[in-house]
Amino acid sequence: TPHGPVIAVDGPAAAGKGTLAKKLAQELGLPYLDTGLLYRAVARLALDAGQDPSGPAENFAEHLTQQDMARKDLRTPDVAQAASKVAAQPAVRQALVETQRRFAAERGAVLDGRDIGTAIFPNADVKLFITASPATRALRRYMQMQGNPAAPDAGEKLAEMEATLKARDAADSSRAAAPLQVAADAKVIETDHLSAEAVLALALAYTRERLGS
Ligand code: CDP
Ligand code: CDP
Repeated sequence: TPHGPVIAVDGPAAAGKGTLAKKLAQELGLPYLDTGLLYRAVARLALDAGQDPSGPAENFAEHLTQQDMARKDLRTPDVAQAASKVAAQPAVRQALVETQRRFAAERGAVLDGRDIGTAIFPNADVKLFITASPATRALRRYMQMQGNPAAPDAGEKLAEMEATLKARDAADSSRAAAPLQVAADAKVIETDHLSAEAVLALALAYTRERLGS
């Protein structure tokens, strides 16, 4: 068992998990791991090898390096799509379990992803499930990617973004291997009408109460 608190931050795409988890880690002085990057890096390697991301990709997961994780080209929409495909493979997930558990072993950690509170750390000290409507999440991702909400094609682009996010969430929620699910003991935070700062304040208060600190 880890020698420090483990805080799981799960939820659907572009809900604000990463933004929250990083700040939470800073506030609490804990290491932070964006577990989505693991799957994105595996997907990137499969795509680079000219491979269909639905095909066997565990060899990439088994040999993942720090450099693979540090690549600047992991946050694109095509890599996100491919990540969801490699992430559905049980052998890929299995190869990444120990990496995630080891990360928290020394000092505890804040980890964000899809299955942190349900599969990776079912006994996490704190479980947060961060969510928002598909329209809100599409707008957040669009803005994050420097989209201009006043552009003439903004409506069309937002609708396309929303459809893509919904399809990826449906795939992540319906797969057999560690699907995206709300853990029974998770604190759900609906963020549609909350700023990132307000979400942090809520999450921090809940976390401190749970940790008794
Ligand atoms: O990690 P995840 O895909 O869940 O989301 P993210 O990369 O943290 O992106 C969320 C985006 O929405 C960032 O640009 C945040 O500034 C913004 N945002 C947020 O995170 N939380 C809110 N309550 C409102 C906006
Ligand atoms: O930032 P965003 O929420 O759009 O995606 P991400 O967190 O980087 O995750 C990309 C994909 O990796 C997800 O759609 C999932 O299929 C997969 N993933 C997963 O299966 N388990 C995790 N713990 C994290 C990500």
